[in-house]
Amino acid sequence: MSDPSKILEARDVTTGYGNNEIVHQVSLQVNDGESVCIIGPNGAGKSTVLKSLTGYLACWEGEIHLNGEDVTDVSTEDLVGRGLSIVPQGNTMFPQMTVQEHLDMGAWLIDDEEKRENTEWLLDLFPRVEERLDQKVKTMSGGEQQMVSIARALISDPDILVLDEPSLGLAPSLVDTIFELLRTVQDAGLSILMVEQNAVKALKNTDRGYVIEMGSVRFAEESRELLDDDEVQQLYLGG
Ligand SMILES: Nc1ncnc2c1ncn2[C@@H]1O[C@H](COP(=O)(O)OP(=O)(O)O)[C@@H](O)[C@H]1O
Ligand SMILES: [Mg+2]
Repeated sequence: MSDPSKILEARDVTTGYGNNEIVHQVSLQVNDGESVCIIGPNGAGKSTVLKSLTGYLACWEGEIHLNGEDVTDVSTEDLVGRGLSIVPQGNTMFPQMTVQEHLDMGAWLIDDEEKRENTEWLLDLFPRVEERLDQKVKTMSGGEQQMVSIARALISDPDILVLDEPSLGLAPSLVDTIFELLRTVQDAGLSILMVEQNAVKALKNTDRGYVIEMGSVRFAEESRELLDDDEVQQLYLGG
């Protein structure tokens, strides 16, 4: 049975590519209203864990549960309908299209009435998006584009937002802006799971963290405890 306070849960998930096992029996969970980060060295398997959690990559062993239901074999598209939205790594924007058109793309699963309501909620949450609805994405800065990518994922009103490296490639001041934005999202009642290379900032801006190394969970603690841990500092936070 599943615990309803757990929004998303991986139970002993093993997966990889071809014959190459990358992720070994990883268990993690995101509770209702919580923000959780996955940190760890380059190539540790963080993105691979996210891919298995979001239906991009099949689990070889183990189970994934979303909102109390077994979704181990559910496709990415169907997960969106069940309350999980994804902000993929890197720039997945369409340069010639406007912000409004990107929001429309994110709303492909919902009807017009729901879209109107969710748009109202979203623009209240992100007033800076409202000012730019008719702007083409190619004219926006990297930070603004990341904001649009997050808004596109939120328009379906998910329970949990899953992000792979939301701060990648952004100037330090914009990294803070994105984390503030995610705080706003969490304050609105959503749960958040993010993979981050920027480990210190990720830990400072989340409730709990997992350190993944060589495809296994090495540490799982409250983020502030990970920040204070001597071993974690030495190994993963640059001393
Ligand atoms: N599409 C793929 N095909 C084969 N191997 C991959 C693929 N994507 C990632 N890998 C390998 O899986 C390992 C973990 O990669 P990844 O999950 O992207 O790490 P991280 O996100 O922690 O940097 C690496 O050795 C990488 O080369
Ligand atoms: Mg990665």
